[in-house]
Amino acid sequence: METTIKNNGISNNLMTIREMLVSDIPHIMNMEKELFTLPWTKDMFLQEIHTQHAYVLLKEDDNLLIGYVCGWLMLDEFNITNLAVRAEFQKMGLGEMLVKFIIGKLLLQKCFQFLLEVRESNMPAIKLYAKFGFEIIGKRKKYYNHPLEDALVMQLDMRKLP
Ligand SMILES: CC(C)(COP(=O)(O)OP(=O)(O)OC[C@H]1O[C@@H](n2cnc3c(N)ncnc32)[C@H](O)[C@@H]1OP(=O)(O)O)[C@@H](O)C(=O)NCCC(=O)NCCS
Repeated sequence: METTIKNNGISNNLMTIREMLVSDIPHIMNMEKELFTLPWTKDMFLQEIHTQHAYVLLKEDDNLLIGYVCGWLMLDEFNITNLAVRAEFQKMGLGEMLVKFIIGKLLLQKCFQFLLEVRESNMPAIKLYAKFGFEIIGKRKKYYNHPLEDALVMQLDMRKLP
Protein backbone atom coordinates (compact mmCIF):
# COMPACT_ATOMS: atom_id res chain seq x y z
CA MET A 1 0.00 0.00 0.00
CA GLU A 2 1.47 3.36 -1.00
CA THR A 3 1.98 5.86 1.82
CA THR A 4 2.60 9.55 1.17
CA ILE A 5 3.21 12.62 3.30
CA LYS A 6 0.17 14.89 3.44
CA ASN A 7 -0.46 18.09 5.43
CA ASN A 8 2.28 17.23 7.87
CA GLY A 9 0.64 13.82 8.34
CA ILE A 10 0.51 10.52 6.49
CA SER A 11 -1.88 9.06 3.98
CA ASN A 12 -2.51 5.79 2.19
CA ASN A 13 -5.39 4.90 -0.07
CA LEU A 14 -7.67 4.06 2.91
CA MET A 15 -6.83 6.43 5.74
CA THR A 16 -5.25 9.84 6.28
CA ILE A 17 -3.71 11.27 9.42
CA ARG A 18 -3.42 15.04 9.36
CA GLU A 19 -3.22 17.92 11.79
CA MET A 20 -6.43 18.70 13.67
CA LEU A 21 -8.30 21.77 12.41
CA VAL A 22 -10.81 23.96 14.20
CA SER A 23 -13.44 22.72 11.72
CA ASP A 24 -12.88 19.14 13.01
CA ILE A 25 -13.96 20.05 16.53
CA PRO A 26 -17.76 19.50 16.12
CA HIS A 27 -17.09 15.94 14.86
CA ILE A 28 -14.61 15.35 17.65
CA MET A 29 -17.09 16.61 20.25
CA ASN A 30 -19.64 14.07 18.99
CA MET A 31 -17.11 11.29 19.42
CA GLU A 32 -16.13 12.59 22.88
CA LYS A 33 -19.76 12.42 24.02
CA GLU A 34 -20.08 8.85 22.73
CA LEU A 35 -16.80 7.54 24.11
CA PHE A 36 -16.11 9.37 27.37
CA THR A 37 -18.18 9.83 30.52
CA LEU A 38 -16.46 13.20 30.98
CA PRO A 39 -16.08 14.66 27.47
CA TRP A 40 -13.55 17.37 26.76
CA THR A 41 -14.86 20.84 25.91
CA LYS A 42 -14.38 22.76 22.67
CA ASP A 43 -11.88 25.06 24.40
CA MET A 44 -9.76 22.11 25.47
CA PHE A 45 -9.44 21.00 21.85
CA LEU A 46 -8.71 24.55 20.69
CA GLN A 47 -5.87 24.61 23.17
CA GLU A 48 -4.59 21.26 21.89
CA ILE A 49 -4.60 22.60 18.31
CA HIS A 50 -2.49 25.53 19.44
CA THR A 51 0.09 23.23 21.03
CA GLN A 52 0.67 21.85 17.50
CA HIS A 53 0.41 18.21 18.48
CA ALA A 54 -3.16 17.30 17.64
CA TYR A 55 -3.97 14.92 14.80
CA VAL A 56 -7.06 13.33 13.31
CA LEU A 57 -7.57 10.08 11.43
CA LEU A 58 -9.90 10.27 8.42
CA LYS A 59 -11.34 7.66 6.11
CA GLU A 60 -10.14 8.56 2.60
CA ASP A 61 -13.32 7.61 0.72
CA ASP A 62 -15.78 9.83 2.60
CA ASN A 63 -13.49 11.95 4.82
CA LEU A 64 -15.22 10.60 7.94
CA LEU A 65 -13.30 11.50 11.09
CA ILE A 66 -12.75 8.21 12.91
CA GLY A 67 -10.03 8.99 15.42
CA TYR A 68 -7.75 11.52 17.02
CA VAL A 69 -4.70 11.79 19.21
CA CYS A 70 -3.15 14.78 20.91
CA GLY A 71 -0.64 15.79 23.52
CA TRP A 72 1.76 18.34 24.93
CA LEU A 73 5.50 18.55 24.70
CA MET A 74 6.92 19.76 28.01
CA LEU A 75 10.70 20.15 28.00
CA ASP A 76 11.90 16.71 26.90
CA GLU A 77 8.75 14.75 27.73
CA PHE A 78 5.59 14.34 25.66
CA ASN A 79 2.30 13.88 27.50
CA ILE A 80 -0.36 12.06 25.46
CA THR A 81 -3.52 13.81 26.62
CA ASN A 82 -6.21 12.23 24.46
CA LEU A 83 -6.70 9.28 22.14
CA ALA A 84 -9.89 7.93 20.66
CA VAL A 85 -11.20 5.74 17.85
CA ARG A 86 -14.88 5.80 16.80
CA ALA A 87 -16.64 2.79 18.35
CA GLU A 88 -17.48 1.00 15.08
CA PHE A 89 -13.83 1.23 13.96
CA GLN A 90 -12.24 -0.03 17.15
CA LYS A 91 -10.18 -3.22 17.36
CA MET A 92 -8.87 -2.79 13.81
CA GLY A 93 -5.42 -1.51 14.72
CA LEU A 94 -6.29 2.19 14.34
CA GLY A 95 -5.56 3.19 17.94
CA GLU A 96 -2.19 1.58 17.53
CA MET A 97 -1.69 3.45 14.25
CA LEU A 98 -2.39 6.80 15.95
CA VAL A 99 -0.02 6.12 18.86
CA LYS A 100 2.68 4.93 16.47
CA PHE A 101 2.18 8.09 14.42
CA ILE A 102 2.49 10.53 17.31
CA ILE A 103 5.48 8.72 18.82
CA GLY A 104 7.13 8.78 15.40
CA LYS A 105 6.53 12.54 15.10
CA LEU A 106 8.11 13.20 18.49
CA LEU A 107 11.07 10.91 17.84
CA LEU A 108 11.85 13.06 14.81
CA GLN A 109 12.06 16.00 17.25
CA LYS A 110 14.42 13.97 19.45
CA CYS A 111 11.83 13.49 22.19
CA PHE A 112 12.19 10.00 23.65
CA GLN A 113 10.06 10.18 26.82
CA PHE A 114 6.29 9.77 26.81
CA LEU A 115 3.84 10.04 29.68
CA LEU A 116 0.09 9.66 30.07
CA GLU A 117 -2.72 9.16 32.54
CA VAL A 118 -5.40 6.55 31.99
CA ARG A 119 -8.42 5.41 33.98
CA GLU A 120 -7.51 2.39 36.06
CA SER A 121 -10.46 0.47 34.57
CA ASN A 122 -9.67 1.31 30.92
CA MET A 123 -8.20 -2.05 29.94
CA PRO A 124 -8.28 -1.50 26.14
CA ALA A 125 -6.19 1.66 26.48
CA ILE A 126 -3.86 0.22 29.14
CA LYS A 127 -3.19 -2.83 26.97
CA LEU A 128 -2.62 -0.70 23.91
CA TYR A 129 -0.06 1.47 25.72
CA ALA A 130 1.61 -1.60 27.26
CA LYS A 131 2.07 -2.97 23.74
CA PHE A 132 4.30 0.03 23.01
CA GLY A 133 6.33 -0.58 26.17
CA PHE A 134 4.57 1.96 28.44
CA GLU A 135 4.98 0.95 32.08
CA ILE A 136 2.85 1.89 35.07
CA ILE A 137 4.96 4.22 37.23
CA GLY A 138 2.35 5.55 39.62
CA LYS A 139 -1.22 6.32 40.45
CA ARG A 140 -3.09 9.61 40.86
CA LYS A 141 -5.80 9.13 43.47
CA LYS A 142 -9.34 10.21 42.50
CA TYR A 143 -7.99 11.87 39.36
CA TYR A 144 -11.17 11.39 37.31
CA ASN A 145 -14.82 12.24 37.94
CA HIS A 146 -17.96 10.65 36.51
CA PRO A 147 -17.23 8.09 37.89
CA LEU A 148 -14.65 8.97 40.49
CA GLU A 149 -11.61 6.87 39.70
CA ASP A 150 -7.84 6.73 40.10
CA ALA A 151 -5.55 7.34 37.14
CA LEU A 152 -2.63 5.12 36.33
CA VAL A 153 0.43 7.07 35.24
CA MET A 154 2.22 5.30 32.40
CA GLN A 155 5.63 6.17 31.00
CA LEU A 156 7.66 5.10 28.02
CA ASP A 157 11.33 5.89 27.57
CA MET A 158 12.31 4.91 24.05
CA ARG A 159 16.01 5.01 24.95
CA LYS A 160 15.51 2.21 27.46
CA LEU A 161 13.76 -0.17 25.07
CA PRO A 162 15.80 -3.20 23.95
C1 LIG B 1 -8.36 2.78 23.52
C2 LIG B 1 -8.74 2.83 22.05
C3 LIG B 1 -8.22 4.12 21.45
C4 LIG B 1 -8.10 1.65 21.32
O1 LIG B 1 -8.29 1.83 19.94
P1 LIG B 1 -8.44 0.59 18.94
O2 LIG B 1 -8.36 1.12 17.56
O3 LIG B 1 -9.63 -0.18 19.27
O4 LIG B 1 -7.15 -0.24 19.31
P2 LIG B 1 -6.34 -1.23 18.35
O5 LIG B 1 -7.28 -1.99 17.49
O6 LIG B 1 -5.27 -0.48 17.66
O7 LIG B 1 -5.71 -2.25 19.41
C5 LIG B 1 -4.35 -2.20 19.78
C6 LIG B 1 -4.16 -2.98 21.06
O8 LIG B 1 -4.91 -2.38 22.10
C7 LIG B 1 -5.44 -3.39 22.97
N1 LIG B 1 -6.90 -3.36 22.89
C8 LIG B 1 -7.66 -2.58 22.07
N2 LIG B 1 -8.97 -2.79 22.34
C9 LIG B 1 -9.03 -3.72 23.32
C10 LIG B 1 -10.10 -4.32 24.03
N3 LIG B 1 -11.38 -4.03 23.77
N4 LIG B 1 -9.79 -5.20 25.02
C11 LIG B 1 -8.51 -5.50 25.31
N5 LIG B 1 -7.44 -4.95 24.66
C12 LIG B 1 -7.71 -4.08 23.68
C13 LIG B 1 -4.87 -4.70 22.47
O9 LIG B 1 -3.65 -4.93 23.13
C14 LIG B 1 -4.65 -4.40 21.00
O10 LIG B 1 -3.67 -5.21 20.45
P3 LIG B 1 -4.06 -6.65 19.80
O11 LIG B 1 -5.06 -6.35 18.73
O12 LIG B 1 -2.77 -7.16 19.31
O13 LIG B 1 -4.66 -7.45 20.93
C15 LIG B 1 -10.27 2.71 21.85
O14 LIG B 1 -10.74 1.60 22.57
C16 LIG B 1 -11.05 3.94 22.31
O15 LIG B 1 -11.19 4.90 21.56
N6 LIG B 1 -11.59 3.89 23.54
C17 LIG B 1 -12.41 4.99 24.07
C18 LIG B 1 -11.58 6.21 24.35
C19 LIG B 1 -10.44 5.90 25.30
O16 LIG B 1 -10.62 5.22 26.29
N7 LIG B 1 -9.26 6.47 25.00
C20 LIG B 1 -8.07 6.30 25.80
C21 LIG B 1 -7.94 7.43 26.75
S1 LIG B 1 -6.45 7.22 27.74
